[in-house]
Amino acid sequence: MSETQETTLEMPSEEMRRFGHDVVESIVRHFETLRDRPVVSWSNRDELEALLREPPPEDGMELGELLGEFEEKVVPHMSHVDHPRMFGFIPGAGTFVGAMGDALASGHNIYAGTWIESSAAHQVELVVVDWFRQWLGMPESAGGTLVSGGSVANLTGLVLAREVRLGDMREDGVIYTSELAHSSVDRGARILGFRPDQVRKIPTDEACRMDVDALWEALLEDAEARRWPFCVVANAGDTSTGSVDPLSDVADFCAAQGLWLHVDAAYGGFAVLDPRGRELLRGIERADSVALDPHKWLYTPFEAGCVLVRDFRRLYEVFHILPDYLVDVAGGPQNVNMCDHGIALSRSSRALKIWLAIKHFGLGRYRAVISRTMGLARYAQELLEATPGIEVVSPAVLSVVTFRYVPSWESDEEEIEQVNHEIRQRVWESGAAMITSSRVRGRYVLRLCVVNHNTRRADVEEVVRLIGELGPAVRER
Ligand SMILES: Cc1ncc(COP(=O)(O)O)c(C=O)c1O
Repeated sequence: MSETQETTLEMPSEEMRRFGHDVVESIVRHFETLRDRPVVSWSNRDELEALLREPPPEDGMELGELLGEFEEKVVPHMSHVDHPRMFGFIPGAGTFVGAMGDALASGHNIYAGTWIESSAAHQVELVVVDWFRQWLGMPESAGGTLVSGGSVANLTGLVLAREVRLGDMREDGVIYTSELAHSSVDRGARILGFRPDQVRKIPTDEACRMDVDALWEALLEDAEARRWPFCVVANAGDTSTGSVDPLSDVADFCAAQGLWLHVDAAYGGFAVLDPRGRELLRGIERADSVALDPHKWLYTPFEAGCVLVRDFRRLYEVFHILPDYLVDVAGGPQNVNMCDHGIALSRSSRALKIWLAIKHFGLGRYRAVISRTMGLARYAQELLEATPGIEVVSPAVLSVVTFRYVPSWESDEEEIEQVNHEIRQRVWESGAAMITSSRVRGRYVLRLCVVNHNTRRADVEEVVRLIGELGPAVRER
């Protein structure tokens, strides 16, 4: 090619239309056929190396062929976390509307870092985050920003806590959190330079909620040792059991002691849209910061997290830095620059997909779906309780129930763990459903979490029936 010939990556409109149409077709097929696909599906590294390892081609490929490769080589080797019988971890099930929101955001190449580069996308983000604020019942001073997920939301909350309550980094600063806190709290503390012993794990009570008496005891110990507690991270739906810490009591404690209260509501936060959930989460409105994950119980395609802060200005105070090369886009109270309110400068519009989906389906439908999934988790608990050999370890408070099969034959803790591990494995191998495991007070448990908007009663019945059959059967392996 001659040097004077201009090379671009432009495409003819017709080709864009055709490819766009084919991509949408592929996505629609995904939704149409999801229920009939295996829930768990992966291949080992060697197979995938053989299938996908290659140098980038010097000359490009035809788009139809490429989409075919995606369908053949990528799709079959992925589990479906949006499958209606995906009950493992915290399932994420985006909607088609949300996916199209992502397509619009990236198709329009929205740069949601500065106001002048995407003022309306910024406004959409302010609106969406303000909806969340209202749902949680936080004051009007509160506001926030969308981030990649709960981990970054927790990290952001910890940054604020440290900056506001600790000032400079201190060797003696202490964070309190529940023994059931998500690992992202430890990771956030580690990123910030805290040692593991600066994150004190408070034991939980019978209901897996942070024991506030134990919190007081820890505080007294630390005061005596002249350490500097500055933050409590409370759970609004812990990942293992879905338990909610006594948020009002923890808020009283923090208010009395001048500690920052961060609530990790990444999983459970949107349960406030259900009357029972609202009651369980009472006190969340008093938090200094809250982590939410729309890509969990608000059915937003990955990625979408949110950090809400009681005093929105704190984010600006802590994160704002104005280098010479950004003076031209400097924001202010009227023209908020989202890049001044968090870690990332370049960011996509995550708000668009949330905004589109909520406006399309209407909040009423979200309320109904969230309530229904909570009801389905209670239904799963009832069915498990009625299944011979199954012991429910923690009830479905939000939408997680933990349980284990206790064999009728003589068995010790180690054998119970092996048997339940085997049940989990066989559920995966069946392709029919996915459940995962965890530990509650040191004991191995299986857990079932209902979040997916498409999960039906029959799906819950099927997975419990399968577990019930596998229990006595695993001995014969
Ligand atoms: C309670 C809780 N907090 C934080 C996280 C981390 O969120 P993300 O995976 O979106 O980073 C999770 C993820 O499951 C969670 O359940």
